[in-house]
Amino acid sequence: MQRIGIIGGSGLDNPAIFSDPKDIDVKTPWGALESPVKAGHIGAKDVFMIARHGREHTVPPSGVNNRAHIDAFRQLECDCILATTAVGSLKLEIERGHLVVLDQFIDFTRHRPITFHETFEPHAPVHTPMADPFDESLRRKLIAHCEALGIDHHPRGTVVTIEGTRFSTRAESNMFRAWGADVINMSTAPEAILANEAGIPYAAVAMSTDYDCWKTDEEPVTWEEILRIFGANAEKVTKLLLETIESL
Ligand code: ADE
Repeated sequence: MQRIGIIGGSGLDNPAIFSDPKDIDVKTPWGALESPVKAGHIGAKDVFMIARHGREHTVPPSGVNNRAHIDAFRQLECDCILATTAVGSLKLEIERGHLVVLDQFIDFTRHRPITFHETFEPHAPVHTPMADPFDESLRRKLIAHCEALGIDHHPRGTVVTIEGTRFSTRAESNMFRAWGADVINMSTAPEAILANEAGIPYAAVAMSTDYDCWKTDEEPVTWEEILRIFGANAEKVTKLLLETIESL
C-alpha cells in the first residue's frame, strides 16, 4: 500500500508527524470537508490526513461530514484508511491509556447520513455486507506494531457509537455493557460504514480515556478528563501510526 488516508480524532490529529506537509483542497459531491487535507510523507508513503472535527475542533460529532471525508480519500486514490479515536471504556480491564484495535461496532447513532446510496439505479439495489467492518490485515499490522512497541493494547473490541453530543446516562452505559460493547465513542460507526461502502479498507485504533459513567466508584466522564488522558498518551498513537504506515 502506497497511499494512506488518516482520520485524526480529537487530540490525535497532529500533522507534525509528516514530512513535506502541504494543504490540499478537495471538493466532493457531498459538501465540504471539516478540514483541508494535509498531504505529506511518512517514509516512502504518501499520506493524507483529515482532522475529523476540524483543526480548531469546531465540529460536533453529529455535524461531521463523514461522506465528504471518505469521498476525499476515494478521490485521492487512498489504498486504505487508518482512523484514531478516543473512547470510553465499558470494561474494567480496558484501562485509561490502553489502545484497542477495534473489530466490531454497534451503531447507536440516529441523526447522521450513513450511506452514499440515497437512491438506487433501477433494479440495482446496493446493500453492503458489514459483518466484519474493520480490515483484518490492517488490524493485524496495528496489533503487531503495538506488540513490538510494548504498548498496552487489546487486539479486539466492539465499539458502540452514540449520537452525542452528550455523554450517556448510567442506564445507557449499563445497557451497552450488557450488549457486550467494550468501548464507547461518538465517531466510528458512520465512518466505518461509509469506508466499506466505498470499498476502502478501514481500521481504527481507539485510545481509552475514561470509564464513561457505569463505574460508580468514580466520577462520571468529563471532556476535561478525556483531554488530559489524551495529552498523556497521544505519543503512543503517533508512534504506532508511524511504524504501521511505514510497514504497509
Ligand atoms: N469518547 C471518549 N470517551 C467517551 C465516552 N465516555 N462516551 C462517548 N464518547 C467518548
